[in-house]
Amino acid sequence: MTDTHKSELYYPSEDVIAQANVSDYQALYDYSVQDREGFWAEQAAQLSWFKPWDRVLDESNAPFYQWFVGGEINIVHNAIDRHLLNANRNKMAIIWEGENGQVRNYSYNGLNREVCQFANVLKSMGVNKGDIVTIYMPQIPELVFAMLACAKIGAVHSVVYGGFSQEALASRIDDAQSRVLITADGGWRRGKAVDLKSVADEAMKRSPSIEVCICVKNNELDVDMEPARDFWLHDLKALPIASPKCETEPTSAEDPLFILYTSGTTGRPKGMLHTHGGYAVYTSTTHRMAFDIKPEDRWWCAADPGWITGHSYIVYGPLINGATLMLYEGAPNYPYPNRWWQIIENYGINILYTSPTAIRGLMRFGDRWPQKHDLSSLRLLGSVGEPINPEAWKWYHHVIGQDKCPIIDTWWQTETGGFMACPLPITPLKPGSATKPFFGNVMKVVDDQGNAVAANEEGKLVIENPWPGMARTIFNDDARYQELYWSQQADGHWRYLAGDSAKIDDDGYIWVIGRMDEVLKVSGYRLGTAEIESALVSNHNVSEAAAIGLPHELKGSAIHTYVILKEGATASKDLAVELREHVAKEMGRIAMPESVEFVESLPKTRSGKIMRRVLKARALGQDEGDLSTLEE
Ligand code: WT7
Repeated sequence: MTDTHKSELYYPSEDVIAQANVSDYQALYDYSVQDREGFWAEQAAQLSWFKPWDRVLDESNAPFYQWFVGGEINIVHNAIDRHLLNANRNKMAIIWEGENGQVRNYSYNGLNREVCQFANVLKSMGVNKGDIVTIYMPQIPELVFAMLACAKIGAVHSVVYGGFSQEALASRIDDAQSRVLITADGGWRRGKAVDLKSVADEAMKRSPSIEVCICVKNNELDVDMEPARDFWLHDLKALPIASPKCETEPTSAEDPLFILYTSGTTGRPKGMLHTHGGYAVYTSTTHRMAFDIKPEDRWWCAADPGWITGHSYIVYGPLINGATLMLYEGAPNYPYPNRWWQIIENYGINILYTSPTAIRGLMRFGDRWPQKHDLSSLRLLGSVGEPINPEAWKWYHHVIGQDKCPIIDTWWQTETGGFMACPLPITPLKPGSATKPFFGNVMKVVDDQGNAVAANEEGKLVIENPWPGMARTIFNDDARYQELYWSQQADGHWRYLAGDSAKIDDDGYIWVIGRMDEVLKVSGYRLGTAEIESALVSNHNVSEAAAIGLPHELKGSAIHTYVILKEGATASKDLAVELREHVAKEMGRIAMPESVEFVESLPKTRSGKIMRRVLKARALGQDEGDLSTLEE
C-alpha cells in the first residue's frame, strides 16, 4: 500500500485553505505538544463551565489521569443549554429521516424540550446521579434524547447497538447492573419492521437487575408490555411529572458520562468509561478543527449513535459546536442505491462522515446513482473505522467529492473518545493514510522491545501522552485497563498501546495497517474472535471453535470459523447453516460467520491457545511461519 501511493499527494484548493479554522498545522502542533496543558486549557475555555478547573491535568495517579480537576461542567449544558441563550435557539439541531420517508425536525429549543421531558420521566422512575441506564434503540431521535436526558441529570448511559441480540444485550446489562432499560418496539430496515422489544424481553429474563423498561413507539409492532415494569414513553410524557423544564445537574469534570462496551482480546467485552469534562473538550475541539465546522453547516455522520462514532460525532461534538445534524434510520441503498445522495441533495449536506465499508458498498452500484444528484453542497468528506483502500478513497474523492472535497480520514478508537490522527482540511493528503497526529498527541511506531522503528517499517502504534478524551478506565476493572493499554517507560512516562500495527513514512504520515490482537473489523464493526467462538460453543453440537478474519471486498474482512463437533453430532450443510444462524442470534447479524468448516483438530500452542495465524495462513495458502510452539 505504501510505496506506490507515497508520492501521490492531493493538495487542498485555495478555497478550502481560505476558510480553514486552523491555518498552520505545524506551528499549532509544536505549541500543543510543548505546552499540552496550555493548549487544552485554551480549548476548554471555549466551553461553559459552572466552576472553572483548578488543574488542567493531574498525573499523580498515572495512568489513571484526570483532566480539568476541580472543574464543574455538564456536557448537556454545552450541547443544549448554552445555545438557548443565543441565535442557535431557533436553529435546526436535528433533521431526522426514517426509511419510509418520514421526517422529523428539532430546533435547539425543541431538542431541549424533548430532553427535559425525558429527563423528568427518568427522575420519576427513580434514576439518580451516577446510576447506569442501558439504552437499546433504533436510530431514531429518541435515542439521542435518551442519551442527553441521562447526561443532563448526571446519570450514566450505556448504549447497546440496536443490531446486537439478546445475549449481547443481557451481558452488558448485567455488567452495568442497570435498573432501567430504554428501548423501542422496533426499527425499520429495508422496508421491514425489525423487532427490538421482544429481544429486550429475552434479555430482561436473563438480567434480573432491570426493574423499569421504558419503551418508545416507533412502528406498529405488537409487543408484550409487562405491567408495573414496562411503560410507553408517550404515556409517561403525558403525565404532569414530564414537564418540558428541567435544570441541568452540575457534575464534576471527572464524573462518568457513559460506558460503551467494545471488543478486546478476551471473551468479555470491556465497558470503556468516559467522563463529562475531558470528553466534551476533546470531541468538540477535534470536530471543530478537523472538520472546519461553520455555524451554518449541515453535518451528517452516517454512523449509528450506538457506537463511539455516533456518541462523539453525531451527538456530543456536533451539538456542542451548535451544528445542524442529519440522522437517517435505514439502509443506504433502500429503496434504491441513490438514497444517501438524495439525502445530501435534499438537505444540502455540507459534510459527510462515513466508513470505508459503506463507501465500497455504494461504489459497487456504479457512478450513475450519485451522478443523478446535485452533490455540490458537499465541502468535506470523512472516513473512519478501518484503513480506507486507495481505490475507494479515489472514488469517494472524485465521484462524491467532485475532486474538490478533502477527505478527512480519522484514526481513533472507542478508547480514545475522539480523533487521534487525522488531517485538517489544509493538509496535503495521501490516499489511505490518516496523515498526522491531532494536536497534543505524540504518536510512534515501536518494535516488540518498545524501540521506535525506522521510517516505513511496520510496528506497534503507540501514543506517548494522555489526552482529555481518553477513556478513564474499564468499568469495574482498573487492573485490566492498566494492563491492556499502558506501560511505563524507563524515563517514567506512560505509553498507550493502541493494538494496531502501523508504519510512519518519510514525511511523518501514519499508515495504519490493522489490528494486531484477536480483534476483527467486519464492515468497520469491531468484534472479538473470542466472542464469536464462545457463541459457537454455546450451541449444543459444538465442542470447540476458532474464528479468523479473511479479506473481503466489501466488508474489509469477513469471519470464517472452524468447528470441532461433539460426539454424536454429524457435520452437514444444514448444521453449518444452523451454526451461522446461531451466532447471528447470540451476537447479532453483523457477527454471522461467512463460513463454518468442520474439522477434527485445531492448531494450538502447547499451552492450549488456538493459533489463529496458522489457520489464516492455511486458508490463504501462505507460509505458516514459525510453528515451533505448535502442538496440533
Ligand atoms: C479500531 C478501533 C473510532 C471509531 C470507529 C471504530 C480501526 C478506526 C481507522 C482509520 C485505519 C482505523 C483501528 C482501531 N480504525 N479508524 N481511519 N484508519 N484504521 O472504533 O470500534 O473502537 O475500533 O478501528 O484498527 O484500533 P472501534
